[in-house]
Formats: sequence, structure tokens, C-alpha cells
Amino acid sequence: MRIILDTDPGVDDALAIMYLAAQSDAEIVAVGSVHGNVPAPLGALNALRVLELVGLNPPVTVGAARPLAQPLQTAEFVHGDDGLGGHAGDPPTGTVAPGSAAEQIVRLARANPGELTLLALGPLTNVALAVLLEPDLPNLLRSVVVMGGAVTVPGNITPYADANFYHDPEAADLVLGAGFPDLILVGLDATEQARAGSEWLASLAAAEGPRASFANKLLDHYARFYSNMFGEHSCTLHDPLAAAIMLDQKLAGYREMPLSIELNGTHTRGQVVSDLRLISSDAYITTSAGAGRVPVKVVETVDVPTFLDQMLKALQL
Ligand code: BDR
Ligand code: CA
Repeated sequence: MRIILDTDPGVDDALAIMYLAAQSDAEIVAVGSVHGNVPAPLGALNALRVLELVGLNPPVTVGAARPLAQPLQTAEFVHGDDGLGGHAGDPPTGTVAPGSAAEQIVRLARANPGELTLLALGPLTNVALAVLLEPDLPNLLRSVVVMGGAVTVPGNITPYADANFYHDPEAADLVLGAGFPDLILVGLDATEQARAGSEWLASLAAAEGPRASFANKLLDHYARFYSNMFGEHSCTLHDPLAAAIMLDQKLAGYREMPLSIELNGTHTRGQVVSDLRLISSDAYITTSAGAGRVPVKVVETVDVPTFLDQMLKALQL
């Protein structure tokens, strides 16, 4: 699988890069950073840092500096001031590639029609801009996997929204309505099932090698944040799960539905809106949510033990 990675590293983004680097059937063709966990320029440097650690050197471009229609808001309280839990270390050796992340997506998709999979692990600003630049993008990409949203479960950054969609609701709505024929949504519905618990974290702490040791350091700050929130030693591996499902769709069970994003709610901006009533009767009031949109594959169930096992193995290379 040849992948364009759109990301806001970010601890779990960094772990997703490390996971992908360990898979022989995955090639990261290019990376774009986006505002989100940290500002986009820092995200690009962090992507370079992690890629260098795992011996990869795809081009890394800087993406959108802010959301489409709201001020920039970042999440250092989850990921640390440097986005890597305080362990970013020295600057990377490499430098960012010229151009923007959205332009890079468009250029690569046009040059390789039907071949590339887009894995979006941050707010969808770059992807939305790419759709605006190239309206035929849905037909030029092979598939799209998005980590974001909370369809049937509570949000994380607000009671209703996950951080990625909350950080750019307009972009999320634009992408979900763009007509991508094969879009998998790995939301909190899936990722909250796949928490790494104390046993898994202890196995990682005991593992040897530069990747395991870096992953351990990264998880310091991040796992402390999540452990405080959950009341037990654990954390959620959002972005690695999306990467794993992209490479092995049999890891998950799906339900197809058209989706919209709440843009005007007083309390619910950024929430995924879907019609879960499973009815098609005129007796009920229909909703405009998702109306006329191509359904997306929402991940409902996850083979958690297999995923956590694969993740641990990937970090021990
Ligand atoms: C998502 O938000 C970010 O904090 C994480 O990196 C993940 O992509 C989870 O809501
Ligand atoms: Ca992310």
C-alpha cells in the first residue's frame, strides 16, 4: 500500500509513523503536517524526527497553519509543549520540502491516479483544501482512512466532539461530503475500545531497542494525561489503530452511513451527526444530516488483542 500521510505529531501520530515503518506492505510516499496537536511547522519537524529514527525519508511538507473558519487551538496539554511529550530532542537532520501539504496531495494524486491511499490523522484542513483545489480528488485516490469523530460514543475534547473534528469542523464536513467512494472513519467509537492498559505499557517498558525506548519516553506525558482521565494506568492509541485498520481491514467491523458535522450547535460544534434510527418510513421525520452524501464506513468493532499485539511487535524492531 502506497500512502500519503497527513498528520499532526503528536504522540499517537508519532506512534502511528513507527507502526507503519515496521510494516513491509506499507510505503509512506509523502507526509504533510497540519495544525492540531501542535502548530503545523512544529508538526512537520516532529514528523521528520520520527521518520529519521525509523530510517525513512519521504518528503515532509508543512500544511495548513489554522482551521478554515476558527482560530488556531492546539493540544499541548495532551502531547507536551514540543508535541512529543517533552522528548523531541535535537532538531532533525532533514528539512521540510517546498510547497504545501494540500498541493502535495493534489500533485501526487494526479500523478498516480487510483494508486494512493490517504491516511489522515489530524484535523482535515489539508484534505479539505486539496478537495477545493482538485474536485476530482475522490476519484484520484485509491482510498481514504480518517481518524476522527465520535459517532455513537462521547467525544474527548468536548462531550460531543473528538479533537480532530473539533479543531476544524468545516473541513471535516467538507471532506465527509466530498463523495470519496471508499472512506473509512476510525473514530473514538473504535479507538476507545483499543486502549493500551497497564500490562501492555509494562511490556513496552520492558522491551529493548531504540524504537521501544523512544516510544516509552513519548508515552510518559501522554499516558499520564490519559491515566488521570481514565482513573487507571492506560492510554488510547487513536492514530496507530487507524494505521493498522488501513493496512488490515479485517481488524475491524463496519457500519456504512452518510455523515455530516454539526457546525452551528451552541454546545455541539464539531459533533458527528448521523441518523442511527435504521428506519426508512415516511412516518418518521427525516433529517438533513448526511442527506445525499456518499456513505462512509464507520468502524464499529475492533479486534483489540490482535491490534495491541501487532503494535507491540512493531515497536520492538
Ligand atoms: C485525535 O486527536 C489528537 O489528539 C490525536 O492525535 C488523535 O489524532 C484523537 O481525538
Ligand atoms: Ca493526530
